[in-house]
Amino acid sequence: MASPITPRQVSSGAAFSVDRMAFAYPESLRAVFERFSLKARPGEFLAILGPSGCGKSTLLNLLSGFLRPQSGHITIDGVPVVPEHPVLGYVFQSPNLFPWLSVLENVRFGLRMNRRGSAQEQRDVALNFLRLVGLEEQAHEPPHRLSGGQRQRVALARSLALEPRLLLMDEPFAALDALTRASLNDELLRIWSGLGKTILFITHDIDEAIYLADRVLVLGLPPTGITAEVAIDLPRPRNQRGTRANPLFAQLREQLSEEIAKVMTSNQRVS
Ligand SMILES: Nc1ncnc2c1ncn2[C@@H]1O[C@H](COP(=O)(O)OP(=O)(O)OP(=O)(O)O)[C@@H](O)[C@H]1O
Ligand SMILES: [Mg+2]
Repeated sequence: MASPITPRQVSSGAAFSVDRMAFAYPESLRAVFERFSLKARPGEFLAILGPSGCGKSTLLNLLSGFLRPQSGHITIDGVPVVPEHPVLGYVFQSPNLFPWLSVLENVRFGLRMNRRGSAQEQRDVALNFLRLVGLEEQAHEPPHRLSGGQRQRVALARSLALEPRLLLMDEPFAALDALTRASLNDELLRIWSGLGKTILFITHDIDEAIYLADRVLVLGLPPTGITAEVAIDLPRPRNQRGTRANPLFAQLREQLSEEIAKVMTSNQRVS
């Protein structure tokens, strides 16, 4: 039987904890993580930077329960993580929309699969989230009529519709041009500050990490783990011109660029 949909509400974010986790892919000789630990507060916006192959996507797959660590513990709000955990939402680099479904039906899809509410309630919820990402008018279009940025907004609405408390985002805006990316960054901050989710955001872009996050972590190459952790004490709400013009922004960029350079140098020494 369908469970009722609660009206859209401000949901508090989930805390998560990774404690002394070790993980290696089955057929691989080298561990991706050894005694890796990481914690996030409820509602925190955490960004992770690191070179290709350092284990960023692997970390998301472990947090989502799709991969299991060989040792250590991963918990969300103190409870061990399991696949399809209802508090988790994902947004990936590619929006992966169903081309044969309208924008609205794409956003409704997860609600249908989870049998949340009646068909009409599901449509209302989907429309609410499309409104939140500024795509209400495109609700009945097929995805191919949308721009890349609009498709990524649909993907965001689709995961938000399931009311996750922890949003895992794996380079969600990497394929977009700089202007679209900036506007989606602003939209994401607006939604985050309104809904209070915890966000773990992966990016290769130092400026994007600083602009969005409360805290930026730099990951070294396997099995190094976290090589730097930088608190981003830029005031909120942030905006493109004011925040980027803040002298602290330039200092943080310098500091993080140095940390990334160190990771890259140690990589060259290893290989
Ligand atoms: N299915 C797999 N089987 C074996 N090794 C894998 C598998 N997936 C990833 N790896 C290895 O694990 C390490 C971490 O990969 P991962 O995809 O997490 O890196 P990443 O930081 O997300 O890189 P990118 O920035 O390129 O997306 C890499 O050395 C990669 O080769
Ligand atoms: Mg990756």
